[in-house]
Amino acid sequence: MKAEAFDYLVVGSGLAGLTFAIRASEHGRVAVLTKASITDSNTSWAQGGIAAAVGESDDWQLHEEDTLQAGGGVCDPAAVRKLVQEAPGAIEWLRSQGARFDSFLGREAGHSRNRIVHHADRTGWEIERAVSGAVRANPNIIVYENAFVTKLLLSDGRVCGLTSQIGEAGLRAFSARAVLLATGGAGKIYARTTNPRIATADGIGLAERVGATIRDMEFMQFHPTVLYHPQIGGFLITEALRGAGATLRNHRGQRFMYDYDPRLELAPRDVVARAIEAEIKHLATWCVYLDATHLDPDGLREEFPTIWSHLRAGGIEMEKEWIPVTPAQHYSCGGVETDLDGRSSVPGLYASGEVASSGVHGANRLASNSLLEAIVFSTAAAEAVRQEPQSDFEDVDYSQPKNVPENEAIRLRHALQNCMSQNLGVFRSNLGIAQADAFVSRLLAEHAELPTAPFSAYASEAYNLLVAARYVVQGARSRKTNVGLHYNADLVTLSRETEVEPAGPA
Ligand code: FUM
Repeated sequence: MKAEAFDYLVVGSGLAGLTFAIRASEHGRVAVLTKASITDSNTSWAQGGIAAAVGESDDWQLHEEDTLQAGGGVCDPAAVRKLVQEAPGAIEWLRSQGARFDSFLGREAGHSRNRIVHHADRTGWEIERAVSGAVRANPNIIVYENAFVTKLLLSDGRVCGLTSQIGEAGLRAFSARAVLLATGGAGKIYARTTNPRIATADGIGLAERVGATIRDMEFMQFHPTVLYHPQIGGFLITEALRGAGATLRNHRGQRFMYDYDPRLELAPRDVVARAIEAEIKHLATWCVYLDATHLDPDGLREEFPTIWSHLRAGGIEMEKEWIPVTPAQHYSCGGVETDLDGRSSVPGLYASGEVASSGVHGANRLASNSLLEAIVFSTAAAEAVRQEPQSDFEDVDYSQPKNVPENEAIRLRHALQNCMSQNLGVFRSNLGIAQADAFVSRLLAEHAELPTAPFSAYASEAYNLLVAARYVVQGARSRKTNVGLHYNADLVTLSRETEVEPAGPA
């Protein structure tokens, strides 16, 4: 079968994928393949914003210092410098695509300055609106929706195209000089995540099958404040709310962060998430609470309209009541290893955004550095791909993709999610990691032995989730020190000394 030829192929339609598409379309024809609709992405769900040193008392050196500190000594300093130096330009570029931002800068944990460029608490939605509009209006970009990429094609060791199951059209093949993976995160390996349903680690599964290097997957970020509510699953309560002054309280009403870190509610995410989990365990409760009742109600409604209305729908009045929260999976800091231009270890294959590991996040991502990373490294990748040779790949010898029956995929997913939530969460242990290692290996072996069934995206995702989970488990197993988001309780004893009465207002 003949492959349809483009210059560049993009898998995924969040900010990383669409930035690349817009930039690369200046010198080539681009196809974007996205497995749901164009706006179904992690980007659309981002509440907080984009970090950039654009405030009067700020500069890139301070942003750099904060990023490196959050990353626990594991960041790539060159990647971080590129990220922070190019941040103001990235914001200007977004504005040029039509994105609108509020006139003041927000504050989030781990930042020494107010530097969060945002659009109320729906920054991601606003950005996705702008860039997807720009992509749709661009004659050099074709978007395939409901296009599930089943395989990357190799020729002489180079990635030179892919196959994709496209809605009613069926299996199609595409060739190109380069393929960019921008498939987002792996949240669905956990039972509780802030990620949308599309976050099934598809880029990790695709990259693994062509032998790309994947690293640091054990650095799974858990957001400290995710709504704990029987009917509303995985709804994020942005850190910007703590930045605006909301406080954390335990079941006794105590501001427990006084017992854990002098930066209190604005300590880095890993610290706050561990403190919350420890507090929940200590008091044998299900959740802690975020208290915004002392903040101006009109300001809350204006600055946090998404949260306000979601909570209202769930029967919670945030201006009067504490919000029940627990940590939940939020972001994969590891991924497909890339250089400063988004190149993976396999020629012709690039990666950007959450699926990539560019080195900027190290062991713990600083809040609001992810959308920024997507723009900066996709922009670099769109320039770098100009050097890739033309693909002379035309005829594709491919077979129909195989997957397991859907009912088996459901069983595998749930088993995986339970295992990962139990053993590879905020706190880990030697025993839990070893048990997860054995369990995930068993699920992968079962997957290989199951009968094949007609194509289903849901079932195909099962393999990608299992592969990503194996990287998380193996990364955790081989990391012998606690750093950033990796915290194995057997490597150190957590210190919550004695019952300390809170020093702050109770
Ligand atoms: O809390 C938040 O709004 C999350 C921001 C982020 O993940 O960068």
